[in-house]
Amino acid sequence: MVNIGTIQLPDFPLLLAPMEDVSDPPFRAVCKANGADLMYTEFVSSEGLIRDAAKSVQKLDIFEYERPIGIQLFGSDVETMGECSRIATRANPDLIDINYGCPVKQVACRGAGAALLQDIPKMVRMTEAVVKATHLPVTVKTRLGWDESTKNVGEVAERLQDIGIKALTIHGRTRVQMYKGEADWTLIGRIKDNPRIQIPIFGNGDIDSPEKALEYKNRYGVDGVMIGRASIGHPWIFNEIKHFVKTGQHLSPPTVADRVAVCRQHLDFSIRWKGEVVGLFEMRRHYANYFKGLPDFKPYRMRLVTMDSYSGVSAILDEIQETYLVELV
Ligand SMILES: Cc1cc2nc3c(=O)[nH]c(=O)nc-3n(C[C@H](O)[C@H](O)[C@H](O)COP(=O)(O)O)c2cc1C
Repeated sequence: MVNIGTIQLPDFPLLLAPMEDVSDPPFRAVCKANGADLMYTEFVSSEGLIRDAAKSVQKLDIFEYERPIGIQLFGSDVETMGECSRIATRANPDLIDINYGCPVKQVACRGAGAALLQDIPKMVRMTEAVVKATHLPVTVKTRLGWDESTKNVGEVAERLQDIGIKALTIHGRTRVQMYKGEADWTLIGRIKDNPRIQIPIFGNGDIDSPEKALEYKNRYGVDGVMIGRASIGHPWIFNEIKHFVKTGQHLSPPTVADRVAVCRQHLDFSIRWKGEVVGLFEMRRHYANYFKGLPDFKPYRMRLVTMDSYSGVSAILDEIQETYLVELV
């Protein structure tokens, strides 16, 4: 068992990464149904939340079946983050997560996200403000450091543990690396080996197969792994990893019928959640991923991303199922 404060997770839990414009309730529903043990909202801007901006407030919506779930906050102002910890707590998640990893300019160049890696005293004050403002466990997600010459996540881990965070997720890249190159988990493994560190350490970065998850578990000793991009269009990855870790065997890959069914669940929830126009529009980014690897799929993709009615998309999904069931037999 892995404990985050009072939250109990199974051994070697699999976490769904917070992903802006991806890990909304419809996407989380298909990941939960396919084995995600702990999930996070998309990151919520503390500036937006304090202004009651609709986009930020909507991200606080969570459902009972999603538990355990964390709301992730980011911001640059210590007091505002404390206040937002209070606001987010009222939405009744299981934990509050702080984002000290976002590398994008609009966030990191405004003193939030990964920018805090350049100002550890402020990061400590901010974390303290968030911890003090909630009775819930607080977790942190960060990177190795700002750049190659300042990989300070070891110090971050010790100091934030002392402030009272209950788990730390580390993405094995620096801010400067953005998403380029391969994630380096060596430092994550070293933090796990530090006898001072008692809280769970979750590794993140480039886990895209059951083999890799098991290899990194064994090599770096992490308490669990967080999965982001590999779950997009392939939420089965959670159960695939669990099965492989337990038995050493692979689950059979999802059939075309499975892909159509899960894509349709995702679509239906999107439309219930956002309405037909926005729901259809936002699903467009997912189709290519659900049907990756199907031969000659491009014409279907083009039709899916231009169709502007639910019944039209649904009919195309039926057609895909029929075509590929026949072709792939
Ligand atoms: C589209 C997208 C949106 C993301 N949004 C967030 C976010 O809101 N908060 C966060 O902490 N990380 C965010 N990330 C980073 C992921 O949580 C994760 O750290 C990163 O993708 C590396 O993991 P992976 O290799 O498994 O994808 C985002 C990544 C992607 C691809």
